Formats: sequence, C-alpha cells, structure tokens
Amino acid sequence: MSDELYERAAAIAARAYAPYSDFHVGAAVRARDGRIFEGVNVENASYPLGICAERAALARAVAEGYGPGELEELAVTASPCGGCRQWLHEFRLDRVTFKNADGEMVSRTPAELLPETFEL
Ligand code: THU
Repeated sequence: MSDELYERAAAIAARAYAPYSDFHVGAAVRARDGRIFEGVNVENASYPLGICAERAALARAVAEGYGPGELEELAVTASPCGGCRQWLHEFRLDRVTFKNADGEMVSRTPAELLPETFEL
C-alpha cells in the first residue's frame, strides 16, 4: 500500500511548478475510504508564498470534504519540512512515507516526525 501511494507521489511530481528551485516534489494522501488526493509544490516569484506538495495534497483532500482523522497515509518524494510536519500532525495521519536522506523508503508517525508538538 505504501509503495503504491509513493508511486503516485513520484508520478505527480512531474507537474510541480518549481522554476526557482527546480526541486520537484509530489505527494499523495489516501483517505480511510481509499480515495487518493495528489499535490505538488507550487512556487512563486515572491519566494515565501510557495506551497509544499504535502500541504497542496492535504488542501485538496479538505476541499473534497476530508478532515483530521479521515486521512490514513501520506507519501511524499522529499523528507517533509518542519512546517509540513505540523500539518501532518494536525490531520492525525497514521503514517507518512518518504525517502530519507539516505535514500531509504521509511514510514513514520507524525509524532515521530515532530515530537512534543504544538497544540491549540
Ligand atoms: N518542498 C516541498 O514541496 N515539500 C517539502 O516538505 C520540502 C520542500 C518544496 C518547497 C520548494 O518549492 C522546494 O521544495 C525547495 O525547497
């Protein structure tokens, strides 16, 4: 299941809009009912306005009616950045699958990715 979701993330990365970094990232999130939503990073000439692939995929899932607790797993072609780790925590994913810095495919819980997380 994780491999398949990662393949979806890897395939969609080709659609990233990343003319500034040329670093194309793809993400795919699977809901508990099996539906999959994909996202890519979208950059902007005003650099901080860009959005990461993980957040793009999660925003897409939200627009389709899914919220925290309804999403099971997210796969992404990069190691999630700090801000995305906070998002992954918010949506209470069971696990996040990605290739780590050593090129190994790993699955981690949001708590493993961001311990002692901020909550409101
Ligand atoms: N990026 C992501 O899409 N996800 C991450 O978790 C890491 C970083 C994007 C943001 C930017 O468009 C590019 O990768 C280079 O940082």
